[in-house]
Amino acid sequence: MDARGLVRSARVVGAAQGVRALRSAWRRSRTDADGLPRTRPERARVPGPARGAEPRPGGGVIHFARSSLRVRVAVGGAVFCGWDGAGPEPSYALAGGCPEPDPRAGLEPDMDGGWRVVSERVMVTVSRFGAVELRTPGGAVLRSDLPPCWWGPEDGSSVTRWVQRSRVAPDARFFGLGGRTAGPRLPDGTYRLWNTGPGPFERGDDPLYITMPVQFVVADAGSHLVFHDNSWDGRVQLRQGDVGAGSGHDRPGRCELRMSGGPLRYWVVAGAPARVLRGWTALTGAPALPPHWALGHQHARWGFGTEREVRRIAAGYRERGLPLRALHLDIDHLDGHRVFTVDRRRFPDLPGLASELRGRGTRLVSIVDPAVKAEPGDAVYDAGTAVDAFVRDGRGREVHGVTWPGRTAFPDFTDPKVRKWWGQLYAERLAQGFAGVWHDLNEPTSFAAFGEPTLPRSSRHALEGRGGDHREAHNVYGLAMAEAAYHGLLELRPEQRPFLFSRSGWAGMQRYGGACSGDVTTGWSGLRASLSLALGLGLCGVPYSGPDVGGFTGTPSPELYLRWFQLGAYLPLFRTHAAKLAGRREPWEFGPEVLEGARAALARREELLPYFVTLAHLAHRTGAPYVRPLWWQHSRDRALRDCDDAFLLGDALLVAPVLEKGARRRSVRLPRGRWYDTATGRAYEGPARVELDAPLGRVPVLARAGAAIPVVGADGGIELEVWTPARGRSGTGLLIRDAGDGWEVPEAERLTVRVADDGAPVVTREDGRRVDYPLRVRG
Ligand code: NOJ
Repeated sequence: MDARGLVRSARVVGAAQGVRALRSAWRRSRTDADGLPRTRPERARVPGPARGAEPRPGGGVIHFARSSLRVRVAVGGAVFCGWDGAGPEPSYALAGGCPEPDPRAGLEPDMDGGWRVVSERVMVTVSRFGAVELRTPGGAVLRSDLPPCWWGPEDGSSVTRWVQRSRVAPDARFFGLGGRTAGPRLPDGTYRLWNTGPGPFERGDDPLYITMPVQFVVADAGSHLVFHDNSWDGRVQLRQGDVGAGSGHDRPGRCELRMSGGPLRYWVVAGAPARVLRGWTALTGAPALPPHWALGHQHARWGFGTEREVRRIAAGYRERGLPLRALHLDIDHLDGHRVFTVDRRRFPDLPGLASELRGRGTRLVSIVDPAVKAEPGDAVYDAGTAVDAFVRDGRGREVHGVTWPGRTAFPDFTDPKVRKWWGQLYAERLAQGFAGVWHDLNEPTSFAAFGEPTLPRSSRHALEGRGGDHREAHNVYGLAMAEAAYHGLLELRPEQRPFLFSRSGWAGMQRYGGACSGDVTTGWSGLRASLSLALGLGLCGVPYSGPDVGGFTGTPSPELYLRWFQLGAYLPLFRTHAAKLAGRREPWEFGPEVLEGARAALARREELLPYFVTLAHLAHRTGAPYVRPLWWQHSRDRALRDCDDAFLLGDALLVAPVLEKGARRRSVRLPRGRWYDTATGRAYEGPARVELDAPLGRVPVLARAGAAIPVVGADGGIELEVWTPARGRSGTGLLIRDAGDGWEVPEAERLTVRVADDGAPVVTREDGRRVDYPLRVRG
């Protein structure tokens, strides 16, 4: 952490923790000095010339003078490349292990002493010196990886770091890498792969809470996702290419990945964007389905303080006719900030409060931090000690950090027995009436006055029995905590889908829940950052996420608050939240004009609930995020690839949030096809850039011609909002329904929209019969 970070974190943790944080940082640096291997003189190594190859199912192994490369195409088309004997497992990212090899893919000799593996979706060629090229079946190059380079002690006994340089097409654009503030298109620069708290963060700050070695690359030749399955600290340097366009040479896009250890192995999934995410989901797991209530508005605040205040806020929403699906209780409802406790003086009857609110349609969600007060007598600490749950250093001493309760110990979630123990602790939260949980400080963060705000890198972890240290376990800590909670909640309340979202995580975290933005600073740039985070995470396979509307740190102007609220209303996790001293976030705190704007945004959100439920199921089935970049269906449209101020919500809606102070009109780039301004009904033909009104009370939202959007009708039943197809065209829609928060098989209906002879749109099911939902024809 630099000086700025230190000042910022002091503002958040407060002076009370300052001295502890100083001591903890000092202890951490001493522990690492003792516990980490000393740097010895190092030698670099490259693969050298190929010596031969052996076929294996789905590909083969190519032997070089000083390394080997395993190439394996899996059923479904994902390609695995593992250097130096690295296999796909063990892996924290893969769901259910490595997929079966594709029996049709095999290793063949290629030109100039190289090799190739041809499969249905990609062709992999490996040169005589270990350069790997991935091409489309038509032969267009998607990615070229130069021969990697490793460093290690001179005796060759281990690898201390490695680098891999790659080239992509000159027109390619980079996305992903987890939750980044400067995107969604990642500008040239260096991105760190090390989950980092405590924040708060500005747009452009890097790294943040969720980093992932997942790049989504989009080019004219096709898109691909590359995932380096390695949880160690690393850095990715990206340089966009240049298209000469007749007046100069093309310059390829470049990417350099430097890792501080761990295996050099990666997966590539290629194809159209939707196909890429489907393949990625097949590898890393289906996104968890949130219950319906989690698709409505949720309100949080660090500092609700008492049961009375929580009631007052809920009543405030009710009295003003504003729907509120959940209230989130932050650490101030805990006894001494200790996890799995309740401050009974201020919250004497949480279960009573929870059931009263629930009767009015508002659930309670609880914060859960991983750190446990390291004090004998603390029930969780004693129970954890009994199962040897806490992270230790190389000498076997418990590692302590500093978080809200003071000196804390950290469960080792990379140990299956610890996950099991921790998962059962959520029984206490359920007994208090909580319907879901919010994982915080799970990077893991330990407040530090200098150096890294986390555990010493030398801390020991079980890593599923393999053993290792925090250098490898750090980035998967939040993911493993989510796994523990998900399975615990499932076991404790099997009839309901667990609801959890997390500040930190890694590739595969979508299996257990979603992500929140963490602490983004209040300001117009924070608003932009929150859009970037949601889109970036979606492209990394985490479809359910959203910002803290209003920003975390200061009081937003009424205008900024409302613009943030309007954005949040179209993101999957729609939550208002702020730090203790950062002012309030209730919509009525910002004056009558904001209240009316917020009311309209909330009403539309509620109306769109069946659409959000459909998108949640779609994400669960296919990995397609609810919110998608504009290029989702038109990835060859270069202008759309550079457009980062608007997004698609599903296939049907295009949302253009207002991201600038004072703006009452904004320009919107439209993908191909006809789009209707949903406020005026006026039609526009894309591709085009259009100017649309954006008065304070609403942001521009466009609907695709031919879309059938499921919405809630006036009587609470489902209606279809049908946007008239362009002349001579038809349209489609999808409706997936379930009862709300259980496991029943959902009903899915594929819809076709066409215009009848009398000019009125007609919606039919797959069997050709007309739907019996009321239609609201627009456009
Ligand atoms: C940090 C989290 O990011 C924030 O949302 C929360 O309010 C504070 N911790 C206090 O728990």
